Amino acid sequence: MNLPFIDTKYLAQDEDTEDLRVVRSEDNFLYDEKGKKYIDFNMGWCVGNFGWGRENIREKMNSSPHPDYVFPHYKYQRWEKLAELLARISPTEELHKSYRTTGGTEAVEAAMQISMMYTGRSKFISLEGCYHGNSIATLSLNKEDNKDKYENLLTGCSQLATPLDEKAADKLETQLKKKDVAAFIMEPISCNLGVLVPQSEFMERAQQLCNKYGTLLVMDEVACGFGRTGKIFATEHYDIQPDILCVAKAISGGAAGLGATITTEKISHTVNKKSFTFYSTYGWHPASVEAAIANIRFIIKNKNSLLDHIEYISQYFYGRLRKVKFNKSAIIRIKGLAIGIDVESKKYANKLVERCREGGLLFTSEEETLLFFPALTITENIAKRGLDILEKNL
Ligand SMILES: Cc1ncc(COP(=O)(O)O)c(C=O)c1O
Repeated sequence: MNLPFIDTKYLAQDEDTEDLRVVRSEDNFLYDEKGKKYIDFNMGWCVGNFGWGRENIREKMNSSPHPDYVFPHYKYQRWEKLAELLARISPTEELHKSYRTTGGTEAVEAAMQISMMYTGRSKFISLEGCYHGNSIATLSLNKEDNKDKYENLLTGCSQLATPLDEKAADKLETQLKKKDVAAFIMEPISCNLGVLVPQSEFMERAQQLCNKYGTLLVMDEVACGFGRTGKIFATEHYDIQPDILCVAKAISGGAAGLGATITTEKISHTVNKKSFTFYSTYGWHPASVEAAIANIRFIIKNKNSLLDHIEYISQYFYGRLRKVKFNKSAIIRIKGLAIGIDVESKKYANKLVERCREGGLLFTSEEETLLFFPALTITENIAKRGLDILEKNL
């Protein structure tokens, strides 16, 4: 029996909410209220990296005798355990001090506060068109796009135009030279910019410039972390040593909300001495912590086979997508299983998302770019079935 839903009256949702009422998720699939099954190439937009409904996570959350809640100013062994696991998988040895957050926005917000306190500066540089969260501070990082909506964004935030090449590095230097920038914040591979892959030379120069001018380098791995781009962290594609790493989304595989801001001993020690606090009532809730511990243990245990599988399936996607006959030739950007495809127009992209959803395949689009973030554990057979739906609905 279909219940009469009244959410349009009481639930505030975005204008562009899709016509899909989810009731169940399992592995690579979502099910709607009528029992229709969809292949999920979206996976909550980089959340369910290892498939939905994972037994190892659910079991851990249900079976561990954790307290209902721990007050942020008490100690808790499982917080220490999770922080240790994050230190174990973080891209550099130095990045091993985790601050507890509820998700990605808070993780970037904490990174901004830490950078301001550590450097004594208040300016930020980020990428044009970026997204780092929905608080006023994180929205300020994309000031150009948001300034018409909000009057009171942070002053002192500027954006660097892409592509990220030598020229962009020169422009970055011009801005950093004034020695008043607290942090340069970016996604090392930008899922929010249609899977933008910076040149290695850019990343290495950005690192040198940040060191030279006393600016912290912050890598936002909220979307691209936890295997998405074919490395555990996208930072590992480059020879860089960020000062801060922000993580969330796939950290718990979608079973619970949680994020972290990971920094170095030196930075943490310095800001803590200056009375930095990041009080988050639900940051690292005990149930979420169990989910994240189980998830990270799974990643550590299966690291090599996971990364091999991602590479194999990534090549499969690329091979198939190159042959797909979109109405005009498309530009494909793919790194691991972060896939951005520029098609003819926003209208064409929107239509394709809608038609494929009706055909049983889920993905999103942003402007004229289709975005596929399938589970990293997807089999070739399911990938094939999804891509067959795409081709059928062109
Ligand atoms: C790169 C990046 N940073 C931060 C955020 C904000 O994360 P959350 O929605 O968990 O607050 C997002 C969300 O999509 C993101 O993609």
